[in-house]
Amino acid sequence: MKYHDVIVVGGGLAGLRAAIEVNMHNLKAAVLSKVYPIRSHSIAAQGGINAPLGNHPRGGYDSWERHAFDTVKGSDYLADQDAVVTMIKDASERIYEMEHWGCPFSRNPEGKIAQRPFGGAGFPRTCFAADKTGHMLLHTLYEQAVKYEQAAERGELKIYNEWLITRLVVEDGVCRGVIALELATGNLEAFKADAVVFATGGCGRLYSNSTNALINTGMGMAVPYWAGIPLKDMEFVQFHPTTLYGSNILMTEGARGEGGYLTNNKGERFLANYPDSRKAMEVAPRDIVARSMTTEILEGRGFEDAYLHLDLRHLGEEKIATRLPGIRDICRKFLGIDPVDEAIPVQPGQHYTMGGIDCNKDGASRVKGFYAAGEAACVSVHGANRLGGNSLLETIVFGKIAGEHASNYIAAKADLGAGDKALADALAQEESKLEKLLGSDGPEDPSVLKEEMQNLMRDNVGIFRTKEGLSEAVPKIRELRERYKNIRLRHTGRSYNYDLMWNIELGGSLDVAEVVIAGALAREESRGSHFRRDFTKRDDDKFLKHTLAYYTPEEPKLEYSDVSLGYWEPKERKY
Ligand code: FUM
Repeated sequence: MKYHDVIVVGGGLAGLRAAIEVNMHNLKAAVLSKVYPIRSHSIAAQGGINAPLGNHPRGGYDSWERHAFDTVKGSDYLADQDAVVTMIKDASERIYEMEHWGCPFSRNPEGKIAQRPFGGAGFPRTCFAADKTGHMLLHTLYEQAVKYEQAAERGELKIYNEWLITRLVVEDGVCRGVIALELATGNLEAFKADAVVFATGGCGRLYSNSTNALINTGMGMAVPYWAGIPLKDMEFVQFHPTTLYGSNILMTEGARGEGGYLTNNKGERFLANYPDSRKAMEVAPRDIVARSMTTEILEGRGFEDAYLHLDLRHLGEEKIATRLPGIRDICRKFLGIDPVDEAIPVQPGQHYTMGGIDCNKDGASRVKGFYAAGEAACVSVHGANRLGGNSLLETIVFGKIAGEHASNYIAAKADLGAGDKALADALAQEESKLEKLLGSDGPEDPSVLKEEMQNLMRDNVGIFRTKEGLSEAVPKIRELRERYKNIRLRHTGRSYNYDLMWNIELGGSLDVAEVVIAGALAREESRGSHFRRDFTKRDDDKFLKHTLAYYTPEEPKLEYSDVSLGYWEPKERKY
């Protein structure tokens, strides 16, 4: 059995930042990552990271109060305001830390970190490294992690590449460690730890039309859910307005922040025709822009009934080449078009999970010693709709906080190193589940189940939702869960068996999808990204609440909890 003081699951920005923090506390940290850390989905973040640095000449000054208010308003007042204030007050320090660690941010003419406008901000506060901000941040943090993996001057920092977590081990309300599958060998191992931090990213691949990497299956949410930790606010799914038609690759909001237009088949900048986006136009919040776009397409003002245009041509080649080189490359490679000369065909696509593992602003869950950070977590700082640029910020702020609180928890813990029997029992149970899956010869092809789930989520749990569509999704997802019990793998070897990995994860995806559906059906209002055609208004009397979903073998059990207010009273959201 392997032992580390703190095990961090996930090698993206939140996970690496948490591990670095544990290491700074002179403890032994291990990162277990399903992929090599620099292949984590954080790498795909493009447009930027928010902080009230106030470096942009427009608008004079920025402040944590303005940034925090924009975040709360953007969340349609569902965010926990104390958590938002914590995040924003820490934002500038975390950005400068990344700068000092070597992140090559783009610069303004004064040589300061450049900032661009992003949706819902009303002020240019999104720091960026061209349109490859996630890439630059992830490499910067990975360098720090590797530096301390090799240096003996602080605690240990070990990285386990290509390990899939299958089980979180909890004994009498205390976290004891995890069971993980080594992809290289197909062997399961127990990892004992005094604290565990999950930073496993989102679950975009519940949907067929997502900007997310294929690895974002939701397994990292399913594992704690199975262990009794609720998932919070999972019905709030963000659709990014501009994803490349066909493949749904992200076309950064930075393109609109730099001045790009959205146009319909009449050549109109149609956002002017919608009351919610008339003023802010292309930099209105994502939920609003995505809904207006979908309406345009549904009402016949799109192209081929499927997409609209993101027009950058008026920005000129120099700006596109320096500020948006990544999306220019993607357009050339995937569609053979150059945005300097042609408008980009775009459509909304699933992009982000506002909900996640229920935890507080210390990253702590209700299980002692178990923490979460980043997109996998729901702290909640995004409420019903996240502002672009706040996701990268969340990773480095709450990654650090979770690492710090996990370290402090260990310093005060009485039964350090306990849990051997619970871990051994869990390992034996996971072994027998694995054997059963490898030997199963049922009639169901899991790739068919996955496709049916993804299409169901796209069609029935998308941007516009109805009671009818959601009610239809409930028995369908249950049917898929039943059929999953009778799958047959195509490959039954142990070493690098990706068929095995994907299909273990499919079980997690199906359960998490069921939570999204249940939460969406129960929430009879429209708020942020959750738009019900049959309940078009926000209903604070009934639903100014977080949804908590608990696992039961039959179906998720829903409860509700209060939203932390205290700074700003909920108001109608106008842009
Ligand atoms: O559009 C983008 O660059 C995405 C940013 C984000 O999701 O924060």
